Amino acid sequence: MKFFVDTADVDEIRDLNQTGMVDGVTTNPSLVAKTGRDFVDVLDEICSFISGPVSAEVTATDASSMIAEGRKLSQLANNITVKVPLTWDGLKACKTLTGEGSMVNVTLCFSAAQALLAAKAGATFVSPFVGRLDDIGQDGMELIEDIRILYDQYDAFDTEILVASIRSPMHVTRAALIGADVATIPPATLRGLINHPLTDKGLATFLADWEKTGQSILDK
Ligand code: G3P
Repeated sequence: MKFFVDTADVDEIRDLNQTGMVDGVTTNPSLVAKTGRDFVDVLDEICSFISGPVSAEVTATDASSMIAEGRKLSQLANNITVKVPLTWDGLKACKTLTGEGSMVNVTLCFSAAQALLAAKAGATFVSPFVGRLDDIGQDGMELIEDIRILYDQYDAFDTEILVASIRSPMHVTRAALIGADVATIPPATLRGLINHPLTDKGLATFLADWEKTGQSILDK
């Protein structure tokens, strides 16, 4: 499963990229607004050191304006993935932009019916928002299960499931168990994947016992 980092904070992306675990980046208007920076500067900087897909979202709501914005975003770098909302206009823009060779991430997906439409529109990625479904008392990961089953019925569907609105390591683990293609993970959650108290405890015990031997591997 590919790991994308879900942030527009370039410093966070640079830091996490050192782990070798970053396969791409997703941004959205809220994440870009949070940086307080010019969005083209942000995208240019991210694409200067991230070679995987970098999602940048249109802000228009009608198809023709989405297409114009998508073309402009695609010109920034060849790994820019145009993000469009799951609306009829977004699906029309998706069809046109993928037809022109752009990668398109259809976002704000909350049902299997919507995911079916995204695949039929030729989306490169579909972004089901699991955390926001959890927030209203549903089980967001059940949607991922349904989309996985649905997409696997049809060879013609090439759309990758990009699990978004991730709030915990459990979301990442369940997404991988289901067979999602990508998880886009907030920086803190990505860092949190490695944490387990028994690992820390076990390492401390190993080192304490080794210390008692007075030996050093490099001195041998
Ligand atoms: O990529 C979409 C993601 O940023 C939304 O997350 O936590 O605002 O639902 P959240």
